[in-house]
Amino acid sequence: MRERSLFQDYEFGDREFRRISAMAYETARLNLHQGKKLLVQNRLRKRLRALGLSGFKEYLRYLEENPEEIRIMVDCLTTNFTRLFREREHFEFLRDEVLPWLDGAGFERIRFWSAGCSSGEEPYSLAVYLREYLENVDQRDVLILATDISLRALSKAKEGLYHEEQLAEVPAQWKFKYFRKRRVDGENYFQVTPELSRLVRFRYLNLADPWPMKGAFQVIFCRNVMIYFDKETQQEMVNRFHRYLVPGGYFFVGHSESLTRIRNPFPHRRPSIYRKPEEGGATGYATAIPGEREAHAGLPDDGPEGEAP
Ligand SMILES: C[S@@+](CC[C@H](N)C(=O)[O-])C[C@H]1O[C@@H](n2cnc3c(N)ncnc32)[C@H](O)[C@@H]1O
Repeated sequence: MRERSLFQDYEFGDREFRRISAMAYETARLNLHQGKKLLVQNRLRKRLRALGLSGFKEYLRYLEENPEEIRIMVDCLTTNFTRLFREREHFEFLRDEVLPWLDGAGFERIRFWSAGCSSGEEPYSLAVYLREYLENVDQRDVLILATDISLRALSKAKEGLYHEEQLAEVPAQWKFKYFRKRRVDGENYFQVTPELSRLVRFRYLNLADPWPMKGAFQVIFCRNVMIYFDKETQQEMVNRFHRYLVPGGYFFVGHSESLTRIRNPFPHRRPSIYRKPEEGGATGYATAIPGEREAHAGLPDDGPEGEAP
């Protein structure tokens, strides 16, 4: 009997669902419409159990008393699924078109941004391609900014330790060149080498908040993140990404994402890859962000290096 009533308590009333989805929207612009009610309920159940709470009414009270819980709630509501070299064609395009452009364009600084980097597989994959296919990486000022809203994912990303199964599709020559094998609890893991991690800076950033970066990027990856947002938010984000690119810069979204529902500011496009027009040849480090007099490193100033603020 007791078990049954506990289970019932873990079901949402409409009022509680509306409150939770409003909070998720205000905080991270997550679009949790009525159709996602069951999903949200299932995702949060585990959290309620961990907190020893009896139901969603109590959870709402807990959220009011502990505002920092909202970050954890948002974390429970998004998925961090990712893979090394996910959507391989993007990396091939990078090798064949973007990096040769970067080699020839004469930028003083080269900045990539992996927005919604999850546990780090995407920025580390970018780092492999930069090491393999960009001329003289060590002699140039090259950095990848990697940001996410999930502190749990960011801490995994900074650790850079992946189970061998996660490297199953990584070509053997890269596996042993860029990762060190380690035994952890009797299992095989691979640790990212300093050669890769040196190129990546992890930061906490909620894309719904103002973006503190002061410079522009040559390449932005925001893949499989905008699926969480409604049309208005997607529009706003894409406009902002566009502003944060240098002339000639590239913007990548996930293959299954479509920007057809919004007014797309990028004239040059192929499925899931967009390019900002070059203005008479892009040399130097362009300041593409209105209101910024000086182009910076393209990294948020706040927080110690690699730490969440
Ligand atoms: C499915 S993963 C995508 C990882 C990687 N980009 C890829 O394509 O494999 C989506 C990531 O977006 C992050 N995310 C969701 N909403 C966000 C927001 N408002 N600001 C920043 N990151 C967000 C999640 O925490 C999650 O790590």
